[in-house]
Amino acid sequence: MKAIICTKYGSPDVLQLKDIEKPTPKDNEILVKIHATTVTMADCEMRSLKFSGWLKFLMRLGLGFMRPRKKHNILGQELAGKIESVGSEVKLFKKGDPIFASTGFNFGAYAEYVCLPEDGIVLIKPDNMSYEEAAAVPTGGLEALHYLRKANIQKGQTVLIRGASGSIGTVAIQLSKYYGAKVTGVDNPKSLEVMKSIGADKVIDYTKEDFTQNGITYDVIFDVIGKSSYSDFQKSLKKNGIYLLANPQLKLINREKRAANKSGMKYISGNMDDKKEVIEQLNFLRKLIEEGKLKSVIDKRYPLEQIPEAHRYVETGKKTGNVVITVNQ
Ligand SMILES: NC(=O)c1ccc[n+]([C@@H]2O[C@H](COP(=O)([O-])OP(=O)(O)OC[C@H]3O[C@@H](n4cnc5c(N)ncnc54)[C@H](OP(=O)(O)O)[C@@H]3O)[C@@H](O)[C@H]2O)c1
Repeated sequence: MKAIICTKYGSPDVLQLKDIEKPTPKDNEILVKIHATTVTMADCEMRSLKFSGWLKFLMRLGLGFMRPRKKHNILGQELAGKIESVGSEVKLFKKGDPIFASTGFNFGAYAEYVCLPEDGIVLIKPDNMSYEEAAAVPTGGLEALHYLRKANIQKGQTVLIRGASGSIGTVAIQLSKYYGAKVTGVDNPKSLEVMKSIGADKVIDYTKEDFTQNGITYDVIFDVIGKSSYSDFQKSLKKNGIYLLANPQLKLINREKRAANKSGMKYISGNMDDKKEVIEQLNFLRKLIEEGKLKSVIDKRYPLEQIPEAHRYVETGKKTGNVVITVNQ
């Protein structure tokens, strides 16, 4: 089968198309013929090991010191496809079932086939979504749902999303609207109309305006980007406001949490949900999709062979929504 191998950490040139052995499902596994996967900012960060301090060391520990270990050298954390065969003990799925899935830190989606455990983060694909649209749901969707549920958003509350037009942000806008919030999306100029089209009541172009200077305060600030300190946003939070940080980078979280709590704010960061919780979350996202309350925003499509180009495009920062990779089509 064809697969894109991450041969070492570095530029997109480290991603090479190779012919490798097609996997065979174990007794408790399903063999999926992949029809679509995605390239996310997180994929690019793992390919280039663009992490700082402790997180870089932990990523080397997890993925491989000098280069991704063999079991991690096919990147890609989300996919959609059709089941080609099932292991002898599989009961939840059957040959021909269309599925969508998150492979998380097992990666493996940059290929024509992948074996997934029957009890993994795998569900039957929503009927009203194509493989391409469904492949773009898990990574951003599960992150957005995890944090917004923690904020327990009430009808009429005001939510600001920083980095609102990316993989996580585009789902966060739609979920915040689903919970009845008034939503302000902050992102680059190219994405303003897209953010409005998926429900943002107000949009701010971060290259022109610093929302922390406009004197407006919010019940919830969902910071998808990180890379700033909480104190920058404190004055934009209402009393008892909630700050959600989706990209912790292991920086001085504890000190910031203490500062937030002292000033009556809530500071929420980190996602340690267990598999059972994540499967329930993906089920919830699927229900919203089938009710027409959640859709995927797709910016560009590339075939499997052009994944290095897709990485180059995602790293330009011009992406709005998701970049989808078509496979076996
Ligand atoms: N499990 C995890 O921990 C996990 C999972 C998924 C993602 N992440 C991380 O979370 C981050 C976001 O993920 P994503 O997939 O949503 O990224 P993304 O698709 O790249 O979206 C990020 C968006 O934020 C925008 N942005 C950049 N700086 C901004 C600023 N100062 N103010 C407002 N918007 C700004 C970007 O615009 P430009 O294009 O103009 O820069 C881009 O549109 C990534 O670093 C990713 O690695 C972590």
